[in-house]
This record gives sequence, structure tokens and C-alpha cells, in this order.
Amino acid sequence: MKHQIVIVLDFGGQYNQLIARRVRECGVYCEVKPYTTPLAEIKAMEPIGIIFTGGPDSVYLPDSPKVDPEIFAWGVPILGICYGCQLMAQTLGGQVTAAQDDTAREYGKTVTYYNTSCKLFKGLPEQGISWMSHGDYMAAIPEGFTLEAHSDACPNVAIADEKRGFYGVQFHPEVNHTENGIRMIRNFLYEACGAKGDWTMGDYCKSAIAEIREKVGDGKVLLALSGGVDSSVAAALLAEAVGSQLTCVFVDHGLMRKNEGDEVEAAFAKWDIHFVRVDAESRFLGKLAGVSEPEQKRKIIGEEFIRVFEEEAKKIGRVDFLVQGTIYPDVIESGAGKAAVIKSHHNVGGLPDYVDFKEIIEPLRLLFKDEVRQLGRELGLPEYLVMRQPFPGPGLAIRIIGDITKEKADILRDADAIFREEIANAGLDRSINQYFAVLTNTRSVGVMGDGRTYDYTLALRGVTTSDFMTADWARIPYEVLDKVSVRIVNEVKGINRIVYDITSKPPATIEWE
Ligand code: XMP
Repeated sequence: MKHQIVIVLDFGGQYNQLIARRVRECGVYCEVKPYTTPLAEIKAMEPIGIIFTGGPDSVYLPDSPKVDPEIFAWGVPILGICYGCQLMAQTLGGQVTAAQDDTAREYGKTVTYYNTSCKLFKGLPEQGISWMSHGDYMAAIPEGFTLEAHSDACPNVAIADEKRGFYGVQFHPEVNHTENGIRMIRNFLYEACGAKGDWTMGDYCKSAIAEIREKVGDGKVLLALSGGVDSSVAAALLAEAVGSQLTCVFVDHGLMRKNEGDEVEAAFAKWDIHFVRVDAESRFLGKLAGVSEPEQKRKIIGEEFIRVFEEEAKKIGRVDFLVQGTIYPDVIESGAGKAAVIKSHHNVGGLPDYVDFKEIIEPLRLLFKDEVRQLGRELGLPEYLVMRQPFPGPGLAIRIIGDITKEKADILRDADAIFREEIANAGLDRSINQYFAVLTNTRSVGVMGDGRTYDYTLALRGVTTSDFMTADWARIPYEVLDKVSVRIVNEVKGINRIVYDITSKPPATIEWE
């Protein structure tokens, strides 16, 4: 089934992915395209509407990003946001200039007054906070347009030519700071573009399965399952589509969390797939023996992982397709939009060089993380897999400071499981984005019963973050920390002291190594 589509034309602003997510949250499929995409290509996608994003430039500079003016003659509704609004205004004969003083330059939360008879603001309160971030303003609006919103400082906050379906806002409706911003986006989609809301995960799931079946035919498919959300959902989708032709290789390096290996295996028991669980604990621990340096641990694990996977792949023989769990933010970051190439992602280990295969399948490459989770639910994956917090590839190896032994890994596994259990019991597992225990290599003196102990210090770490690039330490209530502490020292032999990490990132990182 073909979905209606909206194109988010990317001018390099910082919230561009957010705009796309908002559109999809409104039940409308959309894709982000760089502003340099030829108009013919955009037309061929038959969008029901286009959104011009914000961007860092000023429209009046000679080298600033432009659009083919023909886009305005085509008859498709357009919403311009910030730079996108100014670009639309300037291209259609208005005038945009640098704000000379503070009267028209606006940053941050701004009281804004809306004309609620404009489709964009239909059903909204006449006044609300909007999030502004612009140093330029529209000195003159183009012919055919009317003013639809203003602030105390600026008369031209939103413009519209409703006959042609053109709307422009100086503020950012996609960010949470803008009250009712998502309703404005919804209004644009449903009132101006005629959206039907045909982007549902159930439909997507069905069409993705059909597509995979057609592509794979009777070919053989190989997938490296890490137990993380993306590879698990990709595996479930492939299992549903072409189960009997699918081999999932799950390399258990012995540095997973407590029961994790069994949980992953259990989640896939309902499909008739070839599930290979490689118990490689002693092999990995052997290679890691005596190694304390974090980057060396990572390197050893990465290389060994590929070696084990390669051996398993050889047993299977030639495969036709290799599955990767790349998701849409990776695709956008890798340069599909205008944004500079930040990283070229290869989820699940970057294996193609080592395995003999014909083609890569990336079944999640159009989905955002929250959509991946939704798809996982649709496919019947258990909540503990779908909502799993990020877990680094090297696993507990980088949470055991200093050298790694099986004894230390077992101590950490038990302590970490208690911490996670109590966080869940306290109902904090959704609000703390990542939380785990770290086994330090410090020992200290303690007293237990009548005896002296000389055991490890365990550190607890919990952070709140939206992007994992910066993070704040989570304010876990003292009672919860107390319960965790009492339980761990009583239930886990080898730990007699517990500390809570109260540093944010930066200057610390989330993991200790
Ligand atoms: P840091 O410690 O850099 O972590 O603040 C940011 C996020 O990345 C995860 N992380 C890793 N993930 N392999 C991974 O797959 C690694 O080597 C690795 N190191 C850190 C970390 O758990 C956090 O979510």
C-alpha cells in the first residue's frame, strides 16, 4: 500500500529530524530531503505537502540555500519554518532583512498572538508561548499573503496565503517549548494538505513484510542479533516475513547482563527460524585476561566478535542477504539530508567485509527509534526487549574497571540486576534513560557481623538525557538508593561499599570506561 507522503525539505537547521518525527506522530509518513534535491525528483514522490525547515543562514546572502521557484507554481501546500518562512517570503517578492535592534530579533520563549481563523491556528487559544530563534525578520510580506500571528516585538510572526496553501512561521512549532506546536503541524497536514492519517505501524508492518518477501524470494538471510532494540526488531520482522530462510547469530560474549542471553533466545522462540546462540564466554574472557585499558578491551571484543560471527557464517555457507539494523536518524546523519556527514553507521558490528553475501537489507532504515519500538510491539516482541535501555556492544567489559575475570563479571551481573529491579519497582525505569552498576577496582575495609571485610566498591550510575551526547545524573530518591544499597551488600558477596555517581556529562561520560 502506498502511503501519503510529506517532504521535509532540509535547509540545515538543528530541529529537522524533530519536524519529521512530529509529522509521523500525526499519522502522516514523511521523508527528509536535502534542499538541493531536484524539483522533478520531489514531484515524482507525489507529496501532499512540503515543509521547509529552519537553517543557519540568512536568505538575503548570495550563497544561502535557495529553492527552485517553480515549486511555488506547482500547487502543493507548503509550510515554511523560520529560515523556510523567510525563504518563501523572499522568493515570492517579500523582503527579509537583518533585525537592526532587539525589537524584531527574537530568541527563546515569546508570547504570541494567533489569528485562529487561519487554518494553521484553527481550534487553538488566541495567545500562547512560541519558541523563536531568529535574527532576521520579514520587513515586507509578499503579495497575496496576510499576517496571521504577531508578538509584542514583531508584527510578522506568521503569514499565510490560504488560497495557494502557503504558510510561514518565524517560530519553531516542532519543539516542545512552543505551546500547541504539534497541533499547528497537525492543522497544516489535515486542514491544508488533506492528510488522511494513513501512517500506522500496523499497516507499515504488513507492507514491510510483503516487500521483504518479494525482495528475498527463496534466498537465505543472515542477521547478527545483539539483543539491542534495533537488531531485535529487525530480526522479528525478518522472522515474520521469511522465517524459515533466516539465520540469527547471537554471539554471547559472556559479558551480557544477568539472564540477558536467555531472554533474547526466549523472545524468538515463537518463530521458526534458525537461531544460533554461540556461547563464547571462555573464548572472550581468555582474550581479555589481564587487559585493563578500556580501548584495548573494546578492540579485542570487536575483533573477536567478528571472528566468531565469521566462523558461524562459514558454517551456513553462502547467504544472499545480510540484515543490518540501521535506523532513520543514522541515515539522515550519514548525509541523506543537508547536514554534514557526522558518522557513517554500521549497526550490529559492520560485518559486510567478512561475510560472503549478495546484498544488504536494512528493514528499519525509514523508522525513528520510537517507531522501531512500536513495530517491535506490533510483531509481538516482549516489552523488556522493546523498551531496553542502550547497552554498549562491549557489555560489562567496560563496566569492570581494570582487568576482567569471570568472578568479577558474576558479581557485577548480580549487583546490576538488583539495581535494575529496584529502579523498575520504583517506577523509574522510563524516566531514567540509562542506569547500571560499575564494579570499581577499589577495595576497602568494611565490617559485617563481627568480621572485617576487604571487598569491592560498587558504583551506581543513572542518567537522564535525550541524545546521550550530554547527560545529567538522575536524582534517584534516597529511599530507592537506600533499598538498592542494602540489598546489594546483603545479597552479593564481594561488595561492601556502594557509591552513587553524581557527575553529569560533560565533564564525565556516561560509561566509566
Ligand atoms: P559515553 O560513555 O560515551 O556513552 O558517554 C554514550 C552512550 O554510548 C554508549 N557506549 C557504547 N556503545 N559501544 C557501544 O555500542 C561502546 O564501546 C560504547 N561506549 C559507550 C553508552 O552506553 C551510552 O549509551
